[in-house]
Amino acid sequence: MEDIELDDPKAGEVKIKLTAAGLCHSDEHLRTGDMVLDPEIAELMGWNQFPCVGGHEGAGEVVEVGPGVTTLQEGDHIVLSFIPSCGRCPSCAMGRQHLCDYGSVLLGGRQISDNTSRHHSAKGEDLGTMCLTGTFSPYTVVNEASCIKIDPWIPLDKAALLGCGVTTGWGSAVNAANVQAGETVVVIGLGGIGINAVQGAALAGARHVIAVDPIDWKRERAVSTFGATHAAASVEEAQAMLAEMTWGANADKVILTTGIATGDLIQPMMGMVTKGGRGVVTAVAPIVQEDVKLNLFDLAMQRKELVGCIFGNSNPRRDITRLLRLYEDGKLKLDELITRTYTLDEVNQGYQDMLDGKNLRGLIKY
Ligand SMILES: NC(=O)c1ccc[n+]([C@@H]2O[C@H](COP(=O)([O-])OP(=O)(O)OC[C@H]3O[C@@H](n4cnc5c(N)ncnc54)[C@H](O)[C@@H]3O)[C@@H](O)[C@H]2O)c1
Ligand SMILES: [Zn+2]
Ligand SMILES: [Zn+2]
Repeated sequence: MEDIELDDPKAGEVKIKLTAAGLCHSDEHLRTGDMVLDPEIAELMGWNQFPCVGGHEGAGEVVEVGPGVTTLQEGDHIVLSFIPSCGRCPSCAMGRQHLCDYGSVLLGGRQISDNTSRHHSAKGEDLGTMCLTGTFSPYTVVNEASCIKIDPWIPLDKAALLGCGVTTGWGSAVNAANVQAGETVVVIGLGGIGINAVQGAALAGARHVIAVDPIDWKRERAVSTFGATHAAASVEEAQAMLAEMTWGANADKVILTTGIATGDLIQPMMGMVTKGGRGVVTAVAPIVQEDVKLNLFDLAMQRKELVGCIFGNSNPRRDITRLLRLYEDGKLKLDELITRTYTLDEVNQGYQDMLDGKNLRGLIKY
C-alpha cells in the first residue's frame, strides 16, 4: 500500500471515484507472474508492466471529465469493464466487443489515448493499471471506453462485480457454451467466475448443472442458492455421477473455471463432453504454458469443440446493463456472491481468503 499521484484526465478520459472493487483471481495471476508480458513486446511498446496498480473489477462515480468526452458526465454511475470497447473496430462492429482492438494494450496498463500513465508513484515513477482500470485505488483515471454507464439507483457495490466476475462466468455458460434448455452442464471450479457460470447455466434452462469444487461449503451454496442440481468434490467424482445420470451420454457442455488452467485438466474435462458437445476454457493459464493433454482421436471422431472464452464472450455495453436488469428482477443473484468485504489495506488478507477457499467473491469497499 502506498500513496500515488493521479493526473487529471486527458482527452477521452474520466476520473472515477470508486465505491467498491472485487477480488478476482486474475490479479493473483499478475502477482505470481503468470501474466507477465513478453519482455520484447514490453520494450517495443515502452511499457514497464510493474509497478502496477492492481484490480480490474469495480464500479463508482464519474468525478471529472476530460476534453472531448461525449458519452459521460460528472455524477454518472459506471461499471469499469475490464475489457474496453471502442465500438468502431472490426470486432466491435461485429458485436464481439470482448475482442475489441483496444484489448491489445490491456496488459501494458498505459492510457489508450497516448500510451502514457496518469498514475505515478510518490517518487514520480509511471505506474501501470491492471486491465486499464486499476480498481485497487479509491480513485482512478480511465478511458471512456472502459466505462459502462448504469442506472443511478443500482447499488454500486453490487454492480462492481459486473466488471469481470459475473459477466465472465454468466457469459461462459450463456454465450461461450451456448447452454440450451434441457442440456447437462458441468462447471469445474466454484470461485467468482464458476459460481456465475452455474447461475448462467441454470438461467439458460439447463436440466442438470453439476458444480465441481473440493470446498464443501461452495458446493452446498451452488446447489442451495445458485441453481446447481448436483455437486461433486472432484472431476473424477463428477465423471462417475455424470455417467450414471446421463446413461453414459455425458455432458453437453463443460466449463473450466478453476483458479489456474493447467494442461492436465483438459483431457479429463473433454472426457466428460458428449459427442458434438463443447468444452469452454475460461480459467487463465500461465502466459507461457503450451503443454496440453488431449485425446485428439476423440476430439475429431466425436466432433467435440474446445473453445476459449474472454469476458464470457460478452458485449460489455449490452450485457452489463442486461444483467443488472435481471438482478433488479431477482433472477440474477449478486448480494449472495459477496462472502466478505474488506478495506483497501486488507487486500492481501482478501487474497489469502480467496486462496484458502473462504470466499465466493471478496469485495473491497471504499
Ligand atoms: N477468461 C476470462 O476472461 C477470465 C476473466 C476473469 C477471470 N478468469 C480466470 O478464471 C479463473 C477463476 O477465477 P476466480 O476469481 O473464480 O478464482 P477463485 O480462486 O475465486 O476460484 C477458483 C475455484 O476453483 C477451485 N478449484 C481449483 N482447482 C480445482 C480442481 N482441480 N477441480 C475443481 N475445482 C478446483 C478452487 O477450490 C476455487 O473454489 C482464474 O484463472 C481467473 O484468472 C478468466
Ligand atoms: Zn477478473
Ligand atoms: Zn473495438
